[in-house]
Amino acid sequence: MALKLAISGKGGVGKSTLAGTLARLWAADGCKVLAIDADPDANLASALGFPSDLRSSIRTISREAELIEERTGAKAGQFGQMFSINPDVSGIAEKYGVTYSGVSLLVLGAVKTANGGCACPESVLLKSLVRHLVLNRDEVVILDMEAGIEHMGRGTAMGVDMMVTVVEPGQRSVETAHRVREMARDLGIKRFAVVLNKSTDPAADTAWLNSEFGEDSVIGVIPYDTRIMEADRTGRALVDMGFDDLIKPFCEIRERLK
Ligand SMILES: Nc1ncnc2c1ncn2[C@@H]1O[C@H](COP(=O)(O)OP(=O)(O)OP(=O)(O)O)[C@@H](O)[C@H]1O
Ligand SMILES: [Mg+2]
Repeated sequence: MALKLAISGKGGVGKSTLAGTLARLWAADGCKVLAIDADPDANLASALGFPSDLRSSIRTISREAELIEERTGAKAGQFGQMFSINPDVSGIAEKYGVTYSGVSLLVLGAVKTANGGCACPESVLLKSLVRHLVLNRDEVVILDMEAGIEHMGRGTAMGVDMMVTVVEPGQRSVETAHRVREMARDLGIKRFAVVLNKSTDPAADTAWLNSEFGEDSVIGVIPYDTRIMEADRTGRALVDMGFDDLIKPFCEIRERLK
């Protein structure tokens, strides 16, 4: 199966939990899965259940000075240099991806962007890399985005099939989702979906979100559940917790994403 998803939303709504759990579920189904941590404050590895020794072996692309210079022809972190705006990104995912339980994880890291929109070599490399992976991979690719909407302006998720925005019961995360929807449309992303997380009243919350986004936009409701916090506390993936009922809403979302 080939499906390219970006998962966005306000800070702390549950983006990484959803990205990590969907990735593990698809991998358990036998799909080839590439998970991309596009949040500078990277922690998708723990949501994927990567053991800590494997986590510490992950190399962050934006910090690989040699790779950046080799591919772009310019040094990382410096502005005002000449560099390739169309660098060769082949082989990077294979070399830097770390695999656990069938999910290959790539961590992009933070980049500096100058005022006025001109970019540094590492941001050009990351953007080209993501575009290449999203367009050329015949597999499931899941991008765990940075909180908020700034990344939308940078177009990191351009080319994905679908933008999934996580909201929690509250107007603020819904406002972020509305802005994400508009910006996704501007980027040419055709499908948009909303997942409600941390719901304490699924029926009422679903009705409210259907009125906000339209019935077809809401593809799942995940209840508030302290076992999800427990998974985070202990660095485990939800699928490794051993509770079928905990995973059920995520399985339903996966079905609706096909
Ligand atoms: N349904 C839920 N019930 C209870 N706690 C939850 C639920 N979903 C997520 N959490 C908890 O909320 C916290 C934030 O979740 P997560 O890291 O997935 O969010 P995020 O949107 O990726 O955050 P950030 O913006 O920092 O990247 C975690 O401690 C997680 O365990
Ligand atoms: Mg996150």
